[in-house]
Amino acid sequence: MSTKSKWSRRKSIGEACRELSLGLLDIIKCPRSRPDPIGVDNRMVDAKELPMARGLGKTDRIDSWWTSPLAMAAYLGIMVVYATWRGFMEADFWIFSDFGASSGTQTMAIEDKNSHVLSPLYSPLIIPGKDGLGSWVPEFLWWMSPAMFILIVPAGFRGTCYYYRKAYYRSFFASPAACAVSTPFGDYNGERKLFLFQNLHRYFMYLAVAYLFVLSYDVYMATQFHSGNDAGIGISVGTLVLVLNVILLGGYTLGCHSFRHLIGGIRNRFHNGGGKLAEKCWTACSGLNKNHNKWAIYSLFWVMFSDFYVYMCTSGVWSDLVLIGGV
Ligand code: FES
Repeated sequence: MSTKSKWSRRKSIGEACRELSLGLLDIIKCPRSRPDPIGVDNRMVDAKELPMARGLGKTDRIDSWWTSPLAMAAYLGIMVVYATWRGFMEADFWIFSDFGASSGTQTMAIEDKNSHVLSPLYSPLIIPGKDGLGSWVPEFLWWMSPAMFILIVPAGFRGTCYYYRKAYYRSFFASPAACAVSTPFGDYNGERKLFLFQNLHRYFMYLAVAYLFVLSYDVYMATQFHSGNDAGIGISVGTLVLVLNVILLGGYTLGCHSFRHLIGGIRNRFHNGGGKLAEKCWTACSGLNKNHNKWAIYSLFWVMFSDFYVYMCTSGVWSDLVLIGGV
């Protein structure tokens, strides 16, 4: 083959490649009205526009798609109702004035075993009008219970969590209830307008991380026993309940997507100063993040159970067994 014919062959292959790539670009950009010589565009358009049943809960799915959102709605509903009920219980507020501290029986912390096992729903203990943080509360808010002051942090943190957003959008708003199930509110348009508050998640995360230290301090206090002038260290079932609460909340909080971004995601590389430590933290956080949904569910249950345990013990139904030490 002559040099000239080799050159013209190379040129024709180059041109062919160029035409092929332009053709592919054309197919990707091609509006539906244009002819589609090889049929690729039609396949793409068909994939986007599958016919779908419209209306609340309408779908062509034949599996039991509704069990998961229904179970989640029941679970979250029970947790929210319980937390609200307990939040009001220690409030000096009309129908609740007959309950809890308002009528002389506090249900916030176990004190009768000479220990101090504080319910996580009431921690940090802000008693309006009393010493410490309570002295900052203006008088017109003295009817509020300690739980009402701090529930905004866990509620805000969980309410803006990426996992919970998916869970309650599906369970409570059916938006959508499940994949390929019609939504009653039209197509999903993203989190706009009022839903922009979801962007506060990272700030709630800062508070939630600080909250872990508060709850760890409560664990320490649950090991300190006092009786008159005697003091000792001990462990009760209540102490272990609080320990597990910190572990589960730690797994949930430290596996948060925002926290993961904070400790490693904002870096392009881990080589520079402190990079190795950051990489280790980021890897550990990523490990927790993989099961973020499980940490979210179990930690929520255990917070409520911890409070329920304290409530039962302070109501005299259960007794907080001292396992080791005490006074
Ligand atoms: Fe779930 Fe941050 S994403 S706690």
